[in-house]
Amino acid sequence: MKKLFIYYSNTGNGDIVADYFKQNGYDIRRVTPKHDLPKAFFFKVFWGGFLATVNKKSKLAGYDNDITDYDEIVIGSPIWNGKLSCPINTVLAQTDFTGKKVSFVLYSGSGTAPKTLKRIFKEFDSVGITVLKEPKKHTGELKKLAVLLNHKNENLIPVDKVTIKYNNEGVIKGALKNRAEIKGKNLRYNINETLIVNRVDETIEYYRNVFSGNQISVKYHLDSYIQFLLEDVNAEMLFTKTKKAPADIIPPEGEKHTYEIIVEANGISPRHIKGTYSMESLPEDYADFICLIGKAFNQYSTWGYIFDPSIYAKPSRRKSDIIYLTVQFSNYGKTYNYITDDDSIEEYDSVLVPVGKENRETEATVVEKRYCKKEDVPYPLSKVKKVVRKISTSANEITPELIKSLVGKKIKSFAHRNG
Ligand SMILES: Cc1cc2nc3c(=O)[nH]c(=O)nc-3n(C[C@H](O)[C@H](O)[C@H](O)COP(=O)(O)O)c2cc1C
Repeated sequence: MKKLFIYYSNTGNGDIVADYFKQNGYDIRRVTPKHDLPKAFFFKVFWGGFLATVNKKSKLAGYDNDITDYDEIVIGSPIWNGKLSCPINTVLAQTDFTGKKVSFVLYSGSGTAPKTLKRIFKEFDSVGITVLKEPKKHTGELKKLAVLLNHKNENLIPVDKVTIKYNNEGVIKGALKNRAEIKGKNLRYNINETLIVNRVDETIEYYRNVFSGNQISVKYHLDSYIQFLLEDVNAEMLFTKTKKAPADIIPPEGEKHTYEIIVEANGISPRHIKGTYSMESLPEDYADFICLIGKAFNQYSTWGYIFDPSIYAKPSRRKSDIIYLTVQFSNYGKTYNYITDDDSIEEYDSVLVPVGKENRETEATVVEKRYCKKEDVPYPLSKVKKVVRKISTSANEITPELIKSLVGKKIKSFAHRNG
């Protein structure tokens, strides 16, 4: 796979980045404007800043825009007044990047470039961006490029926060019908969802807007659970591998699913990834990640006791009542009745019950619990056996053991698989 770094540099920061790429097997193409910025600092910043603000394209001295031999292109640009440098504007205008894996390395005085991130995301469907703080002065910044090169960093930087924004924009043709003046007109919709997983605060937040301005949001504070999930996940590696989506994909008619992911960690600048919300365009480790987070949500049901009919619609136990338990030995298997004196046993608890002539003690799950009057018993009292004891509760207590059993080795493996 041939890789190319196309870049511009006025004061040498880009050249340091180019050296790094060269050492890592990239071909290098440095672009030179016919008329570079003035040498004097004041005029340089004044003139360059002005030109960049108006998105000026520089005339280049002999730019070769043929990239047919390359699969992966990295574009390097200094930030001028928050924007891409003028020579790189020309590169973008004169090069056809269709079907190429494209990434950007931006170098700026502050180490940030929000306006430019926005622009690049707008122009490229699936793209990775790394922003460096003047690598000439801050050589450690080059380490951030390990992400682009898919190098494993020996010192794992744990992820602090992952923000996933999802957008579904679409149109349902002829869907409007309730008033004469709009009858048969198209219904446009825009659904946004945001998921924020915060290891430091140990929270997961999820926001979802539904039709007509209605919003749903939930926030879980799961003590040590999020820590446990994310502490081994390397921020520099997470979501760095994306496949190149096949060129002949047919997008779903009338709808567009897109995403933006922001990975944040202490000591590195936030990394943004953006693309179509589909398996061909999402990072390779996305499915594992989101599945684990989903499991965290599932562990604790959103609906608590307020909504629980087994509390508000359950008759209280009377002195004369007998506790009947219906149990099951396997999922979807036949059910059997037992009685017990232990009122702490609840539905979905595991119990030990006597089975067969030998009364073999066997584990079963309680699927129903009832208080019955003697005359209402579901199974004759003379025949029904008694539960030996409760084994465990079904309570959704999140313990490290439970997490391990839930997600198995995946927690550790997907953090490292990126390396
Ligand atoms: C004309 C001009 C405008 C600049 N504007 C910004 C800016 O808006 N924000 C910033 O963080 N740095 C800004 N800088 C600093 C450069 O982005 C930074 O020094 C960069 O690393 C230069 O790369 P180079 O040495 O490869 O040319 C500006 C520099 C110049 C010359």
